[in-house]
Amino acid sequence: MGRLQGKTALISGAASGMGAVEARIFAEQGAQVIVADVDDAGARAVVQTITEAGGSAIAVHLDVSDAANWDKAIAEGVEAFGNINVLVNNAGILIMKPVQDTSEEEWDKIFSINAKGVFLGTKAVLNSMKASGSGSIINISSIYGLVGAPSAAAYQATKGAVRLLTKGTAVDYAPFNIRVNSIHPGVIATAMTDDLLKDPEVAKALLGTTIMERSAQPEEVANAVLFLASDEASFMTGSEVVVDGGYTAQ
Ligand SMILES: NC(=O)c1ccc[n+]([C@@H]2O[C@H](COP(=O)([O-])OP(=O)(O)OC[C@H]3O[C@@H](n4cnc5c(N)ncnc54)[C@H](O)[C@@H]3O)[C@@H](O)[C@H]2O)c1
Repeated sequence: MGRLQGKTALISGAASGMGAVEARIFAEQGAQVIVADVDDAGARAVVQTITEAGGSAIAVHLDVSDAANWDKAIAEGVEAFGNINVLVNNAGILIMKPVQDTSEEEWDKIFSINAKGVFLGTKAVLNSMKASGSGSIINISSIYGLVGAPSAAAYQATKGAVRLLTKGTAVDYAPFNIRVNSIHPGVIATAMTDDLLKDPEVAKALLGTTIMERSAQPEEVANAVLFLASDEASFMTGSEVVVDGGYTAQ
């Protein structure tokens, strides 16, 4: 029996990167997966891969910064598969600039996706989780939600917000058997870091501070997300799971 057998999971930003790998692994473990993204073609391609392998998934359009989008995506998911048991708030964008070079528009944009998107998704899913009798929400923060680094202050502010939004939500919804945890990935090889890792100086700075001296594959994070999503993590809530090859260890 799969580790997520019988569960319905919505993953935001699941058209590429870590979200796409989580969607595939969740389906392999028996979950019915709602693949949600602004990138409709990418989401459909992920669904095709899952269904061709015998899994169960649908693609839904979702801009995480828009409350009405969330309501629609969740309604479509519930109609297809029943109440939602797992939400992975994974969608995010990166802006690499120091404060003086970051415009107000860039600040508002990154907050609307990385922080408000997690708030809206959580708010939108809670009634469905309450109706199902249990839930697991996994919020994708970052090592940049734990420590500082050059040229990423706005991004870090969003990921720090996600860290404590997680703990506050965990406190409020434990009585409903809903667990809420954050994941803090280090440097992971996805489209988000592609350009950064191609630049030898930036790559050296990022990987030089990672004890394991390498970036990770998305699967290495997705397996931690899978654990938190499953009933194996039944006593974990409000926790922060760091998956960073030792970046924050020193
Ligand atoms: N890659 C890393 O090194 C790293 C490290 C720490 C944390 N993270 C976080 O992990 C998460 C996934 O990142 P990734 O590396 O897989 O990046 P990615 O760029 O491969 O994937 C991000 C996905 O989010 C989607 N997205 C963007 N804006 C959206 C919106 N408004 N609504 C819905 N979907 C939207 C994109 O279309 C894309 O499919 C992000 O929250 C990111 O901040 C990444």
